[in-house]
Amino acid sequence: MMKSVFIGCGAYLPQRKVSNDELAAKVDTSDDWIVARTGISSRHIAADGEMTSDLAHAAAVTALSSAGMAASELDLIVLATATPDQTFPATATKVQARLGVPGIPAFDVQAVCSGFIYALAVADNFIKAAQARNVLVIGAETFSRILDWEDRTTCVLFGDGAGAVVLRAEDEVAGTGRRSDSRGIMSTHLHADGRHHDMLYVDGGPSSTGTAGVIQMRGKEVFRHAVSNLAAVVTEALEANDLAPGDINWLVPHQANQRIIDHTARKLKMPREKVVLTVAEHGNTSAASVPLALNAAVSDGRIKQGDVILMEAMGGGFTWGSVLARW
Ligand code: COA
Repeated sequence: MMKSVFIGCGAYLPQRKVSNDELAAKVDTSDDWIVARTGISSRHIAADGEMTSDLAHAAAVTALSSAGMAASELDLIVLATATPDQTFPATATKVQARLGVPGIPAFDVQAVCSGFIYALAVADNFIKAAQARNVLVIGAETFSRILDWEDRTTCVLFGDGAGAVVLRAEDEVAGTGRRSDSRGIMSTHLHADGRHHDMLYVDGGPSSTGTAGVIQMRGKEVFRHAVSNLAAVVTEALEANDLAPGDINWLVPHQANQRIIDHTARKLKMPREKVVLTVAEHGNTSAASVPLALNAAVSDGRIKQGDVILMEAMGGGFTWGSVLARW
């Protein structure tokens, strides 16, 4: 049996950083309100003409470099985004062209804020099925393009960015079981419940309005569902691996709201020091949020080889899921 081992990660944030005060000059909000309700202080916003594929490509280049792998060694690219450059082709194919690796499969996964978790699960299953050996998995978004900048209930929450990882197929060491010390993805769990599609959505699209649309959200309901779905999915991941909360070295959560993250951490009885937090500086970057957080903690040396990390996310659909791995 093959196992998917993380061999590198990278990230890219657009240069322009927008503070809460800057937003408060445009809409009726305040730094105090945004920080108290969400934990967000600032977010990065893509420049005019800077597209999701540009962010994704930059993150991919740093991930490949940290993995010490040439793009020519890749045999699959999976890109999670809800803000593709165009309706089609898949943004993954544009990244592929820029990396100069024609011929290998490249496609997008759309699960909004859970996109990176979904993409990792897809990549892991390609590896386990021996259909790919070296996989580039990217989460990249330009949510600034689908925000109503006059709607204070949504425009303060989101940001742009991209993160990427490189997975390599390695032989599972025989007979070591789930508590194995071997590195790699230990489990993936995915869920969706489309009955709630109208709680968090974009009011446009090619087959409805023919426009891109902007985000609409019933914030309180989303909050309530996020808290219960994420508590359930982290419990599910622990039980499936016969692990206790104390076995997890790092929680790498989707960065939507500090209060949602605190709730999941309490459920896991994890102290704040073991939770990777980037929500204050990045806001909610949707599919990019987990790989951006992962990259932050790997590059500053907090996440070390052999650490057990639990990644989770929840997004529009609703979709939610987890990936448990030994780094
Ligand atoms: N600045 C100032 N006031 C704001 C505001 C803003 N940016 N946005 C909303 N308000 C106001 C509301 O209009 C409301 O005013 P009212 O009481 O006069 O009607 C008041 O603040 C409270 O709004 P409410 O929506 O009840 O606040 P909340 O405590 O639920 O916080 C969210 C709002 C959006 C921060 C919170 O619901 C949330 O985080 N939800 C989940 C969002 C999320 O994570 N989405 C992505 C999931 S992937």
